[in-house]
Amino acid sequence: PVIFIPCDAAALAVGADRVASSIAETLAARRLDAEIVRNGSRGLHWLEPMVEVRTDHGRVAYGPVKPSDVKSLFDAGFLEGAEHPLFLGKTRDLPFLKKQTRLTFARCGVTDPLSVSDYRRYKGLRGLENAIAMQGAEIVQVVTDSGLRGRGGAGFPTGIKWETVRKAAGAQKYVVCNADEGDSGTFADRMIMEGDPFVLIEGMAIAGLATGATRGYIYTRSEYPHAIATMRKAIEVARGEGILGPSVLGSGQAFDMEMRVGAGAYVCGEETSMLNSLEGKRGVVRAKPPVPALEGLFGCPTVVNNVLSLASIPLILDRGADYYRDFGIGKSRGTMPIQLAGNIKHGGLFETSFGITLNELIYDIGGGTASGRPVKAVQVGGPLGAYFPTSHFDIPFDYEAFTANNGLIGHAGIVVFDDTADMMKQARFAFEFCALESCGKCTPCRIGAVRGAEVIDRIASGASVSEQTTLLDDLCNTMRLGSLCALGGFTPYPVSSALSHFPEDFGPRPQSQT
Ligand code: NAI
Ligand code: SF4
Repeated sequence: PVIFIPCDAAALAVGADRVASSIAETLAARRLDAEIVRNGSRGLHWLEPMVEVRTDHGRVAYGPVKPSDVKSLFDAGFLEGAEHPLFLGKTRDLPFLKKQTRLTFARCGVTDPLSVSDYRRYKGLRGLENAIAMQGAEIVQVVTDSGLRGRGGAGFPTGIKWETVRKAAGAQKYVVCNADEGDSGTFADRMIMEGDPFVLIEGMAIAGLATGATRGYIYTRSEYPHAIATMRKAIEVARGEGILGPSVLGSGQAFDMEMRVGAGAYVCGEETSMLNSLEGKRGVVRAKPPVPALEGLFGCPTVVNNVLSLASIPLILDRGADYYRDFGIGKSRGTMPIQLAGNIKHGGLFETSFGITLNELIYDIGGGTASGRPVKAVQVGGPLGAYFPTSHFDIPFDYEAFTANNGLIGHAGIVVFDDTADMMKQARFAFEFCALESCGKCTPCRIGAVRGAEVIDRIASGASVSEQTTLLDDLCNTMRLGSLCALGGFTPYPVSSALSHFPEDFGPRPQSQT
């Protein structure tokens, strides 16, 4: 039998390494023959560490497993997939997994992240092999036809971005993967890097072939040490296997890459600030235009894509544009790896076609709040995303539908709050966050964020709510229209949504609470 114990940071945080040692010791002590594979996470976070065993009848799961459970698991015969209080049944039949459409995350949690043979066995490298047989323009056309839009948050069509880089003149072009993932409640990029790093490498190599870029960088934050280590090893392995290097899979076309680590400033996830950081400069936002597709890293044409955008590419090149495009609704094609976090019973990674509603996500899939109290609001799209009350939970997950409701999908992180949340405090938090993370380049953000927190403090200390909210509206408009980048420009989303959906939360507070 093969025993799978996740090495994903979420599983490690709840003791997966200790469970792995305990299982290894028990195997040795009982002279049992079984292989241990450290896989990525399946994304059912409340069941981590979720241990799986590959039996003659398929993979079965147990969880959440503590080191103290290991003896009883062996006694019960878990190597044969026997019943036990932690037995969850066949992994593929777990409702949380069964309801998903896993395209980007098809291998995550299934394979050994650093095994190329596993990667190939699960259909890896087929997209790259197809791409090698195509001209750059043809590859870009497939990506355009698939309808893929940037998964980092803005939803810009990936094919158009690639075409801009492909057509741009330049002796040197780059592919930069934005893996900075600063949004609250998001972890999909990290899970890909820890659980299926080759899919990202393959996606970047295809981007290189499509646009003529020969060098790639993955930029992430120092808070992701496991992702950094796994990606670095995977890049070495890929180089050793000829997937990266002077002749990608014997194609005669060069593409190589490296990992770069930033210190974790939120603004370094903004693409131009990230490029400055990559160049060794301070992470300050650059004015656009020019867009990085024309003048990016070191002034050269650069594809800047999020991890999830690039990780979607291999499947599109393998199965074709139509296959991918057939999933989704409206102009939101394909699938989205949605991250359920905050006060939710069943939090984790849920990949599904666009079109699912917040009601389905929060109640049917997420099981409501972890506290058992009523849901009050969700924040979608990170700390700069809008708060939605339950009356808006029938909005379909779709870029346009969210925009029409004064919100954004962003990187698809959903943070759930129960009825104890104080939305005035949340609005203040948005300003505090912006003030702390502002790069300081433009006035509406640098000064506006500080003034915004002060206005809310005045409401809390008893000033006229209507006067102060008029000021807040004015300030939000100035920040929205006058900021150079999304950090200042999107801070009004959480503030205005809290104000419009939860006006009853805005008012004086006892001095001890302010
Ligand atoms: P944007 O709308 O300015 O640009 C989107 C992308 O399209 C950029 O890469 C831009 O260079 C490119 N682009 C625009 N016009 C182009 C053209 N004509 N040709 C080629 N490329 C073109 O949005 P921005 O400021 O890059 O991103 C904002 C988003 O970032 C927000 O929606 C927010 O949700 C998201 N975000 C994500 C975070 C995360 O952790 N993933 C953190 C913070 C924000
Ligand atoms: Fe910098 Fe804020 Fe202006 Fe963005 S909006 S450029 S983070 S000061």
